[in-house]
Amino acid sequence: MLKPDLKQAKTRTKNPVLIYNDVYKLLDEDKKIGLNKKYYLKTYGCQMNVRDSETIKAILEDMNFLETDNYLEADLLILNTCAVRENVHNKVFGMIGRFKHLKETRKDIIVGLMGCMAQEEVVVDKILNKYKWLNFVLGTHNLHQLPEVIRSQQKLNINAPSIEGDIYENLPVKRTNPFTAFVNIIYGCDKFCTYCIVPFTRGKERSRQKEDILKEINKLIKAGYQEVTLLGQNVNAYGKDLNDQYYLNNLLEDIAKTKIPRIRFLTSHPWDFTDEMIEVIKNNSNIMPYFHLPVQSGSSRILKLMGRRYTKEEYLTLFNKIKKAIPNSSITTDIIVGFPNETEEDFQETIDLVKECQFDGAYTFLYSPREGTPAAKLKDNVLLEVKEKRLHRLNLIVNEHAKKSNDKMLGKIVPVLIENYSDKNKGQFIGYTDTYKSVNVIGDEKQLGKIVDVEITDVKSWSLTGKTV
Ligand code: SAH
Ligand code: SF4
Ligand code: F3S
Repeated sequence: MLKPDLKQAKTRTKNPVLIYNDVYKLLDEDKKIGLNKKYYLKTYGCQMNVRDSETIKAILEDMNFLETDNYLEADLLILNTCAVRENVHNKVFGMIGRFKHLKETRKDIIVGLMGCMAQEEVVVDKILNKYKWLNFVLGTHNLHQLPEVIRSQQKLNINAPSIEGDIYENLPVKRTNPFTAFVNIIYGCDKFCTYCIVPFTRGKERSRQKEDILKEINKLIKAGYQEVTLLGQNVNAYGKDLNDQYYLNNLLEDIAKTKIPRIRFLTSHPWDFTDEMIEVIKNNSNIMPYFHLPVQSGSSRILKLMGRRYTKEEYLTLFNKIKKAIPNSSITTDIIVGFPNETEEDFQETIDLVKECQFDGAYTFLYSPREGTPAAKLKDNVLLEVKEKRLHRLNLIVNEHAKKSNDKMLGKIVPVLIENYSDKNKGQFIGYTDTYKSVNVIGDEKQLGKIVDVEITDVKSWSLTGKTV
């Protein structure tokens, strides 16, 4: 049994990352395991997890399992979990409780926990104490071992050993959408913001080789994809761990040359956002003018406690630089409310910053202490009631600005990639503008997967409605 060890994370080595190309192999017997069986997979958390689930699905379907969205009829039940805030833990253990009832009557079902919670020592200890009936716990660095843990389904198999992580290039993938795809470019995070569990659950920053990324994108283009979203906890750090002076701006430039119609990237840490990147984005029309640039707080004092490595003023300078270079860009952010020692004055600075930046949207969170992180040692001294009131006040302003930004779109004709049906019966589709605003489009089935001109006819805070012209 291999358990994760959070303490190792801070002392992890800077050794070159191993790249294994031949680790995922199915035995003939694996292909029989899923015959006439169904799997249920629930995904929590960020795009990284969504992308991992696309690999988990492909592996399970290689093993001949069929997917079901009803866990009651599943033979294999997997939760791909997120550890970033406590509330997901509660939901996950709630689901595990339901699976336990199921297992009482159907002893043959296989239940597994994957994702970031599997990388947490506290979670693994809890499972060892209370939930020993689970079949497996498989960490984020060990997706390739999924067939192996399903094969050895008789006893609890815990496999979440590495916080370093390697890169596995040959894992299969079942893409969720035929027109827009997630492409990992960098795994892990080295920032160690004091509140955040991600560097512990996802390991150190490891960039994929540019050749592998471009190969994947060229394959997607051949298959008709219109858009790629480059993924990383901090995409702007791409290449810093490799020795070839090739960074996100270089990668973006090379991907732009492939002529794929739309390129996006998520998430940007303000610290690593260089002038060269802004230049490349400005000069290439197929790099979309949308940036998710988490600020976390508007108070430099709190930003310091958070270990964010920038002040309010530095964030504003970057924000204004991007807006000046790319005036039509849309910028969204993340904000944490109620970090330890956050005073009313600190919070007011966050409100002022939000008003100044007029973000197109913001994800706002109550601070949630995560065991093993430095901030968890600080007293969580902002009362829940105060945190909630602040969050409410913040959300009112965030929504007001999101609505204002959408209002500007009313009556305009904008290019929208039609990604999916929103209501098949009514001929309604879901699409995204270049600035990543979601549009409910009244259109035609033939436009699925195409970038079409849409006239915006109605606006809400978080969505637009339009018709194709
Ligand atoms: N890599 C990205 C985001 C990672 S997690 C970045 O650096 O911005 C997504 C968001 O969850 C974070 O931006 C932050 O706002 C929030 N978050 C992370 N840890 C949190 C915690 N302990 N409590 C509350 N929110 C948290
Ligand atoms: Fe977490 Fe900070 Fe890394 Fe983002 S940059 S994943 S908030 S440690
Ligand atoms: Fe959650 Fe892990 Fe993503 S902790 S936010 S699923 S990297």
